[in-house]
Amino acid sequence: MRKPVIAGNWKLFKTKNEALALIEELAPLVSGVDNVEIVVAPVFTVLPTLPAALAGTGISLAAQDVFWEEEGAFTGEVSPRMLLDAGASHVIIGHSERRQYFGETEETVNKKVKAALKGALVPIVCIGETLEAREAGDTFKVLERQLKGGLEGLTGTQFAPVIVAYEPVWAIGTGKVASDDQAQEAHAFIRGVIAGLFGKSAADKVRILYGGSVKPENVKGLMSRPDIDGALVGGASLKGASFASIVRYSE
Ligand code: 13P
Repeated sequence: MRKPVIAGNWKLFKTKNEALALIEELAPLVSGVDNVEIVVAPVFTVLPTLPAALAGTGISLAAQDVFWEEEGAFTGEVSPRMLLDAGASHVIIGHSERRQYFGETEETVNKKVKAALKGALVPIVCIGETLEAREAGDTFKVLERQLKGGLEGLTGTQFAPVIVAYEPVWAIGTGKVASDDQAQEAHAFIRGVIAGLFGKSAADKVRILYGGSVKPENVKGLMSRPDIDGALVGGASLKGASFASIVRYSE
């Protein structure tokens, strides 16, 4: 009932030509896939280069961040309308690297989510605990705080398009994937929090992606769990063959 989403977060990789080469490799490998939504998220400067290459491939384009104002004296920022103008339909918000290195907070995530929705972009809202929090037994507490903070003030109707990504910080870029059980447990908890905020029907519909060292070898196990509706892939999305085999996990 929930259509899976496999999204590639390219982080700070790929110039224009490198991005075009990757799409050229990827597109034929995923052609004909219609049971999964495919998204790629390059750096801002590459966004406007890709729509022509993506046309007819079924692959959607995401930005990796957004600012909450439409325009104004905000040097270095990019607004939802500008992302739409560049061809993006989705935007990653609150990635742990932004929380860790760039001062992202629940409050800024919340402003960005609201601005993205107002600007007709689909937010992919990232949450996840650090190793320290997990070891202290605070995983659920952190997830609940990040979720409630990031989604504060939204109505159920506003929330409907939102995609959530659970990315345990200790699993990102470490090769240490969460076990299927750990991921499922967190996803079920997240779905429960969403049910509390927006009702059971919204919780049944929301796609919750897992991120953190997803690879062709581990995606199938993760995707077999009932509350895991897709993946947000970093390193393994930088090569056409590995990303395509993640997209084709069900074959
Ligand atoms: P890796 O897949 O490289 O661990 O990165 C995950 C991630 O942060 C995706 O947003």
